[in-house]
Amino acid sequence: MNVPIIDLKANYNSVKQEVDSAIQNVLDDGAFVLGKYVEEFERNFAAFCNYEHAAATNSGTAALQLALIAAGVRPGDEVITTPFSFFATAEAISLCGAVPKFVDVDPETYNLDFRQLDGALSKRTKAIVPVHLYGQPADVDEIVDFADEHDLRVIEDCCQAHNAVYRGKKIPVAGTGCFSFYPTKNLGAFGEAGIVVSSDDELIDKVKLLRAHYERPKNVHNDIGYNYRMEGFQGAILNAKLKKLDEWTEARRNNAKLYNELLKNLESKITLPKEKSYVKHVFHLYAIQAERRDELKTFLEGKGISTGIHYPTPIHLQPAYEDLGYKEGSFPNAEAISKKILSLPMYPELAREQIEHVANAIREFCTTTP
Ligand SMILES: Cc1ncc(COP(=O)(O)O)c(C=O)c1O
Repeated sequence: MNVPIIDLKANYNSVKQEVDSAIQNVLDDGAFVLGKYVEEFERNFAAFCNYEHAAATNSGTAALQLALIAAGVRPGDEVITTPFSFFATAEAISLCGAVPKFVDVDPETYNLDFRQLDGALSKRTKAIVPVHLYGQPADVDEIVDFADEHDLRVIEDCCQAHNAVYRGKKIPVAGTGCFSFYPTKNLGAFGEAGIVVSSDDELIDKVKLLRAHYERPKNVHNDIGYNYRMEGFQGAILNAKLKKLDEWTEARRNNAKLYNELLKNLESKITLPKEKSYVKHVFHLYAIQAERRDELKTFLEGKGISTGIHYPTPIHLQPAYEDLGYKEGSFPNAEAISKKILSLPMYPELAREQIEHVANAIREFCTTTP
């Protein structure tokens, strides 16, 4: 049996009619860049998150960069974040001319450990970017308390956590969050797309200026901006797919529950994801830890099961950040996790038999290797 890590075709087939007619509408109206479908999506997605305003961009990276600039992050400032995320989290900080300052992660949730924030603070610290990794919200309340105490902005990286809930509130919790709609995400476009959601109307307005050459009124540019506009096709497709997000989120959670049940006897050999009691994890990824991770990955490949590693190298050890002076040993938790982490197949359309096949294969590996 073949079990891909993600199945974008199955996902398309489950919304084919709605998506096809959304695409046709864009063609008929010629609304190719921003325009009415993107505006409709901004309203719908903001409302979905229980916010009033959002600004659509052409990627999650662009959303993070523009939100940081609009929040006042300037060249030479420092922004605290996690070393255990996709590279784009730190990259967005660098794109503002600011410097990422990393703090280690909690070994259970893999999210930024708020207890270590103090060690990264300096006079130049301007903001904190927590990431809701794999779909599990970070400890936002404690992070916001720290930020308030030191007059810092909090911009949440929600790129992997659409529809996640923290203490009864949908993310973003602290007021401003950035999402990616890269095709593999829980809500995926058919191309590149992202959005900033915020309760700060001025910030949203600034992002809208920045994403389109800082032009207002027409032909007047009061500052240097970017071309980070969302395409009409993506807005229309995302509008159609958003209606399914609750259903898809529940399917992901049910799949995770089944993995948990089938794998729980193997907990002496592998570590399962730990969902905190006060959050709703949306399982963008279902990642386990295994001592012999690389062997397990190869073994599963032999059984037709594809897996992923998110992420094999923590950001502070990436060549691009060599000049920041971090070393192996700087963040022991992130480094240890990166050596053992393995993402199993996870998507809403995953069938029970496929999950059983994955679990059986992992059991076979665990019981036949020392
Ligand atoms: C945690 C995180 N941050 C940022 C990004 C960047 O989003 P995008 O690929 O849409 O630029 C991604 C996804 O790729 C992500 O997973």
